[in-house]
Amino acid sequence: MPAAAPTSDLANVADAATTPSAVEVRGLVKRYGEVEALRGIDLTVNTGERFALLGPNGAGKTTLFSILATLRTPTAGSARVLGRDVVTERDAVRRELGIVFQEPAIEQRLSGRDNLLLMGLLYGLPTAAARRRADEILTQLGLAESAGRPAKNLSGGQRRKLELARALVTDPKILFLDEATLGLDVDARRGFWSHVRGLAATGRTVFFTTHYMEEAEVADRIALIDAGRIVALDTPRALKARLGGGVIRLKTDDDAQARTWLTGRGFATDADAAELMLVHADPAAVLPELLRHLPVKVLRAEVHEPSLDDVFLKLTGRGFGSEHASAPPGGGRGGPNGRGRP
Ligand SMILES: Nc1ncnc2c1ncn2[C@@H]1O[C@H](COP(=O)(O)OP(=O)(O)O)[C@@H](O)[C@H]1O
Ligand SMILES: [Mg+2]
Repeated sequence: MPAAAPTSDLANVADAATTPSAVEVRGLVKRYGEVEALRGIDLTVNTGERFALLGPNGAGKTTLFSILATLRTPTAGSARVLGRDVVTERDAVRRELGIVFQEPAIEQRLSGRDNLLLMGLLYGLPTAAARRRADEILTQLGLAESAGRPAKNLSGGQRRKLELARALVTDPKILFLDEATLGLDVDARRGFWSHVRGLAATGRTVFFTTHYMEEAEVADRIALIDAGRIVALDTPRALKARLGGGVIRLKTDDDAQARTWLTGRGFATDADAAELMLVHADPAAVLPELLRHLPVKVLRAEVHEPSLDDVFLKLTGRGFGSEHASAPPGGGRGGPNGRGRP
């Protein structure tokens, strides 16, 4: 019957309209005494999305993560996870979540396998099912070989993967990760994220915080957070496109004079600590001209596609990768930390 197709299409539309977002945050404020760690956060994370919260130390990432994970309560505003309120429907929210903290949550003296078994039993699985689940995840994350050893004897990268494994025992719809790879070397970080990518490919929502630019690049969308505010929220590509061109970075023997000269010729320059940065629609074309005419000695010149670092610098006036921590007025305890364990 020809009428059947439109009917099912309509059903799909209705479905889409009623399916709650993975995360919905409105006007969220968090104060710790004098410190305003979150100053009115609004964001929506779609189901199945990989969403990164990227910002320097002290920006408010762990605070937002902890509120979404129901471990802290907001001062004002609201947050919902899969349509449920993190304050009034806390237990329901918790059942949907897998959480990886910045600090270890696994029991270091137990083996990886026993850690997962324990988690499964705590979650209420029968022993045989908990064993099956543990083995399934260990294999999936490439930990089957090492899972018999006490966790404390594993490498840093393996231990972090075990944290991820622990979060997966309950087969959560959403994974929350707070600086999950802090302190790992680049290879171990890549290994970790390749697994997270695989998990997202199965339709899980992944919400993660990081202060590593290159980690945020794996996200579908990124919220840049600085001093308790979202300063930009978009796809990595769109964020970089906001700069409106490519980037030239220069190091000269007199950057102050170079800046004055450039500004006088209509170039917008941004300075981070060590060098001059300018954005131009066609940097490769303009660079030879600059090198010929600049009244200072150029020690180094570099042209590159815009990075998230450039975007952050442009938006906040501060470099990112370096130790330019942003502390809200009132000071506080900067630095990455794992206050957020239950
Ligand atoms: N329990 C707390 N008591 C007081 N200040 C806090 C507490 N937790 C975080 N802060 C402050 O709130 C701000 C945001 O911290 P946090 O959310 O940990 O940032 P991030 O995770 O981005 O490094 C910082 O200024 C920090 O010092
Ligand atoms: Mg943190």
